[in-house]
Amino acid sequence: MEGINREVNTKHSKVSIIGAGNVGATCAFRIAEKGYADIVLLDIIEGLPQGKGLDMVDATPIIDSDAKIIGTNDYEETANSDIVVITSGVSRKPGMSRDDLVLTNMKIVREVTEKVVRYSSNCIIIMVTNPLDAMTQLALHISKFPRNRVFGQSGILDSARFRTFIAQELNVSVKDVSTCVLGGHGDTMVSITRLCKVGGVPITELLPKEKIDSLVERTVKGGGEIVSLLKTGSAFYAPAAAIAQMVDAIILDKKEILPCAAYLEGEYGINGVVVGVPVKLGKSGIEQIIEHDLTPEEDAALKKSADAVRELVEVMNL
Ligand code: NAI
Ligand code: 2OP
Repeated sequence: MEGINREVNTKHSKVSIIGAGNVGATCAFRIAEKGYADIVLLDIIEGLPQGKGLDMVDATPIIDSDAKIIGTNDYEETANSDIVVITSGVSRKPGMSRDDLVLTNMKIVREVTEKVVRYSSNCIIIMVTNPLDAMTQLALHISKFPRNRVFGQSGILDSARFRTFIAQELNVSVKDVSTCVLGGHGDTMVSITRLCKVGGVPITELLPKEKIDSLVERTVKGGGEIVSLLKTGSAFYAPAAAIAQMVDAIILDKKEILPCAAYLEGEYGINGVVVGVPVKLGKSGIEQIIEHDLTPEEDAALKKSADAVRELVEVMNL
């Protein structure tokens, strides 16, 4: 039969996810559904990653995926990963800000990054643990990887929330809404409303300023709104979907423009700190940082956001 002897590349990519809690497990399953990567789910709690991993692998015949999924407490199993997603750490409780987590999570992220690097010295690290921008900078510092291989998930989630709220307000498909959210993953995030469009039309032509301001405010507080409802943890479905979109862009070398937390070296006039900006994501990780021309007000807001991240990085004394 023609083509039967054709060499088929059956090597799956390998994605390890550290932290098998709400975000880690949910994103592991989304990646498993794609079928292109084998997955290692790691946690310090014995039995938790193994149990969730087995449950997911039991689902593979149903979801039509040949992904191998294992749960473990041993970093050796993560060896030679293409991508490592770090979700280990505590999440905030009602009344807390993401920044309140810095002292607890910096210890976890430091230790985890050291172990990840020992076994996967060529991997790409996607940081998820909060406070996101500071933890990304910590992992960059500990790993000593180049900045294209260490970045964080934040802007896809924040932009998705803004897109959702705009789509609900205008009763249109979320697909037709594009947004631009820059800055740190926290109260200082910057929505560039002038660049937000619905079917190509700027939202500033479709909604009054007060309404746009209220949607921006809801976006900034979007994570907190969910924490107040859940009471015992924070969002995980939308964050997991955002991580999976980043993994897709890298493994499939999509060259997709996505907002990510990246270490800036002069872009946007900002130097030596991680903040959310649009980047081109492909098989090398961040392949380009996309720079928008900002108005003086937008530029000031982005720099204020970068300064807030810088303050938190100083707390870590790197
Ligand atoms: P979770 O509590 O459900 O899961 C965290 C897991 O990390 C737990 O299973 C815990 O045992 C594990 N863990 C703790 N220390 C560890 C260590 N040293 N090594 C390996 N595993 C360890 O929390 P969830 O909801 O999954 O959130 C995880 C983190 O992600 C939090 O810091 C949260 O704030 C952050 N987050 C960030 C988002 C973003 O957009 N960047 C979105 C959602 C959550
Ligand atoms: C959020 O924005 C917890 O940072 C996470 O929902």
